[in-house]
Amino acid sequence: MEWTKEARYRELEDVTKEELTALEKIVNECPWRQTYHIQPITGLLNDPNGFSYYNGEYHLFYQWFPLGPVHGLKHWYHTKSKDLVHWENIGVAIKPSNQFDSHGVYSGSAIEHEGNLFLIYTGNTRNEKWERFPYQCLAVMDQNGKVTKMDKPIVNEVPKGYTDHFRDPKVWKQDGHYYAIIGAQKESGTGCVVLYRSSDLKEWIFAGEIDTGLKDFGYMWECPDYFELGGQGILLFSPQGLESKGDHFQNIYQSGYVIGSPIDLQKKQLIHGEFQELDRGFDFYAPQTMNDPQGRRILVGWMGLPEIDYPTDRNGWAHCLTLPRELLVREGKLYQKPVKELENLRGEKSEAEITVKNEFVSINGFSGEAYELFAEFSEITAQEFGIEVRVGEHEKTIIKYDSNEKKVIFDRSHSGQSVGKDFGDIRKCRLDAKTVTFQVFVDISSVEVFVNNGEEVLTGRIFPQQNSRGIQFFAVGGQTNLKAMKWNILKD
Ligand code: FRU
Repeated sequence: MEWTKEARYRELEDVTKEELTALEKIVNECPWRQTYHIQPITGLLNDPNGFSYYNGEYHLFYQWFPLGPVHGLKHWYHTKSKDLVHWENIGVAIKPSNQFDSHGVYSGSAIEHEGNLFLIYTGNTRNEKWERFPYQCLAVMDQNGKVTKMDKPIVNEVPKGYTDHFRDPKVWKQDGHYYAIIGAQKESGTGCVVLYRSSDLKEWIFAGEIDTGLKDFGYMWECPDYFELGGQGILLFSPQGLESKGDHFQNIYQSGYVIGSPIDLQKKQLIHGEFQELDRGFDFYAPQTMNDPQGRRILVGWMGLPEIDYPTDRNGWAHCLTLPRELLVREGKLYQKPVKELENLRGEKSEAEITVKNEFVSINGFSGEAYELFAEFSEITAQEFGIEVRVGEHEKTIIKYDSNEKKVIFDRSHSGQSVGKDFGDIRKCRLDAKTVTFQVFVDISSVEVFVNNGEEVLTGRIFPQQNSRGIQFFAVGGQTNLKAMKWNILKD
């Protein structure tokens, strides 16, 4: 199907039930539908939005174009959960409906206020010349889940000095005030974030640009997020336009953070160390965090990237969200651990403890297409060792450690149908450790690897054949002790 402008900007109301049913049928025939990840019923999912805890439940919205695997007219789709693991699809929460969001209800965030959940987002509009005008808008969700849009934007102009790339408000409360940061592009063509302040979430004052010291760091910073953890200030953002550098910045766009002293809201200044990538794999972008009632800082990302074709496109859908990760600060670095509740998904268990020496071994009970796998490698003399998952006759996805280079390597060059080939199919990241653990979540079309308790995370979509279900452990140029555990994750 050709995605004309008309097709991309068609309103959901104008689509017949029959059309939607036909689309759903094609989507459901896709061999790569996930089993325990949040994915769209049809169409394209991108950024997580409005991630929050409200009225006794976790709420997670996402950017959604319902009609196909392209970036068309965006809505906020609503899901909710009691445990961060079993998510209920609620439906569209915010749809484009007026002159302030006619060309898309773009990304934003949520915060509780006076018993309601305030949803703050960017309304994207375009004129006949297809010039863009962003507005920052507000919708309010009540305890019954009813969402009401405010009829006027809360920020109706872009301040002087910035372009129309001005979006993705992330709001938080501090010292009795509300603050929001917005991703922006300066007229000089570089990315940055700006700060707004409010006392009631309705009237907002532009406070100015945040001085991060990063003067020429990409051309646009999308989806910023600010929070404090372990006494430190952390600014997350997704910069576009960074050149790749060694093993770094290998994807089309990046997502990462800077960490330092808490932000000085008066001076609008953040003093911090170097920009660090959050995920060293392939498909990860525009993450958002929330603080939950247990005091945890939890992150969810888009397991996808813009401007790349994926094999599921042919079946009318694209992308999913990552599993929720708890963030922890250790020595100036964010560690990311799969949230504890994911243990609720564990089914039948297999276990093994062996020595692997210059060989590739398969172990009884270790196979499948949707599971959690934990492997600890110790007493290592091998030059290279690791795991192959989704192994078939001609397919395998490799997660390994190279002891000479001291690097973790994620290789999807033989994973099945390829994706994003132009950006390479191997990712590497440095890790200096005597014992290496891989906690791997495999779903029908994805792999998320948490290395050494979340010191590094590598995420990637893969598109193997259904019968590629093998798991192999290996060691080359020496040996390693291996302790392995695997739990099936059942479709619900
Ligand atoms: C990031 C992004 C945001 C924007 C949204 C539109 O992926 O480009 O900046 O709000 O997607 O869907």
